[in-house]
Amino acid sequence: MRGYFMQEFSVRLADEQDEVFLWNMLYHSIYVPEGGSLPPRSVLDEPHINRILNGWGREGDLALIAENSNNQSIGAVYIRLFTEENKTYGYYNDQTPILGIAILPEYRGKGIGTILLEGIFKEAKALGYTHISLSVDPNNPARRLYERFGFEKVGVDGTSWDMVAAV
Ligand SMILES: CC(C)(COP(=O)(O)OP(=O)(O)OC[C@H]1O[C@@H](n2cnc3c(N)ncnc32)[C@H](O)[C@@H]1OP(=O)(O)O)[C@@H](O)C(=O)NCCC(=O)NCCS
Repeated sequence: MRGYFMQEFSVRLADEQDEVFLWNMLYHSIYVPEGGSLPPRSVLDEPHINRILNGWGREGDLALIAENSNNQSIGAVYIRLFTEENKTYGYYNDQTPILGIAILPEYRGKGIGTILLEGIFKEAKALGYTHISLSVDPNNPARRLYERFGFEKVGVDGTSWDMVAAV
């Protein structure tokens, strides 16, 4: 079944037309403990969250989009560089892009996130990056996926962990 499903989606590089979808995926990447619900969409206007994608299309911004067989976007992963002066959750240093990822709820747990992470690691390596960082709530099951990709805890920011992996 898993193998069958794998043929039912594809991955492509994002372009400028995907920005609205990326904002949607940023919203879906917000951690909701089991039984909870997502906050209102206005959470995207909070400075630390808004900064994650604000002005998308800067040099070095890179995203991959997963599509279903109807060419509908169903998930995304993105990496972006930040500076000490303009940083957001997961910042490690100016040379390490921060990663964000989300899959639409009905498509989770089917291997799509794994394929997107493999893809973005390859792209990051090709661009000469040595590491990728991210921020995750330690209770988020996504932490297991990140650990499989070599992410290790390098710090704590509020209730979240900052993690870094070599690419
Ligand atoms: C995290 C996420 C991108 C992974 O993509 P995916 O296609 O579901 O992942 P895969 O099927 O390739 O891999 C399965 C792993 O994903 C994670 N995962 C699966 N379902 C998940 C869910 N509903 N929420 C969070 N993580 C989930 C687990 O680590 C799982 O590993 P496990 O099998 O050891 O439990 C996706 O589940 C998602 O969008 N989750 C909600 C948003 C989120 O938490 N984003 C990360 C914020 S730091």
